[in-house]
Amino acid sequence: MNANQPIGVFDSGIGGLTVAKAVRKLLPRERLIYFGDTAHLPYGDKSTAAIQAYSVKIVDVLLQAGCKLILIACNSASAAAFELVKEYAGSRAHVVNVIDPVVSHLGIYHAGQKVGLIGTKQTINSGVYTKKVDSLHAGIVLQALATPLLAPMIEEGFQRDEVSDTIIQSYLNQEDLHGIQALVLGCTHYPLIKRQIDAYFAHQVAIIDSSEIVARAVKEFLETRELLNEGPTGEDRFLVSDFTAAFQHATSLFFGKSVKLERYALWE
Ligand code: DGL
Repeated sequence: MNANQPIGVFDSGIGGLTVAKAVRKLLPRERLIYFGDTAHLPYGDKSTAAIQAYSVKIVDVLLQAGCKLILIACNSASAAAFELVKEYAGSRAHVVNVIDPVVSHLGIYHAGQKVGLIGTKQTINSGVYTKKVDSLHAGIVLQALATPLLAPMIEEGFQRDEVSDTIIQSYLNQEDLHGIQALVLGCTHYPLIKRQIDAYFAHQVAIIDSSEIVARAVKEFLETRELLNEGPTGEDRFLVSDFTAAFQHATSLFFGKSVKLERYALWE
């Protein structure tokens, strides 16, 4: 593995761009290859087997593109397919998920607290966060709530309006989340509505956005293995399994310029 190989990042759609953007900011010399599986979005409602199949196909594409590290920038895929993908990539590339860095963060900064978690049905029903948090033995009480409408809502562009306000409020008002001191945004789409969530709690609850935490974990991971790129930087690439206006719009918005999308069908 060479330091000048790119980092592969994937998600079902635009959510992982929140993580990609944080990685880009923290590691400006790294080249990113992003895969948005827009043809199969949302992942959160799919079966574990389906998400595993999509993930392995995407990892194949990213391996062929020569990635040194694959970042699963999706909680649903991290919950359903991390172990499988890691085994599949083997010695060809390192694999990092978005859940472990957040769990470590909770252990350090939120021990002994009541912490809320919102995410897709796949992420919440997998129980992965609860298992990992419990194994910290840090006295954290995790209150997990599936919020399946949020990712499709964000993907459809409802982010700062009445529709999104109403949906966000009716989820966050659930009894499960009463009295929490921190809330984990357990879906990489949710940083896009972070401000509304923060406002709902009147800024009294620590909102844990995984994008920066994960970017720091990636940096540390590459640093320890002497895999940080110090050579010339290349152009990022954005692959999608289906063209969507939402993705085109989001990439331009995130990266401040109009980016070229490459269509890559996973099955043809
Ligand atoms: N952004 C993803 C996650 O972190 C998936 C959302 C979806 O496709 O349902 O879970």
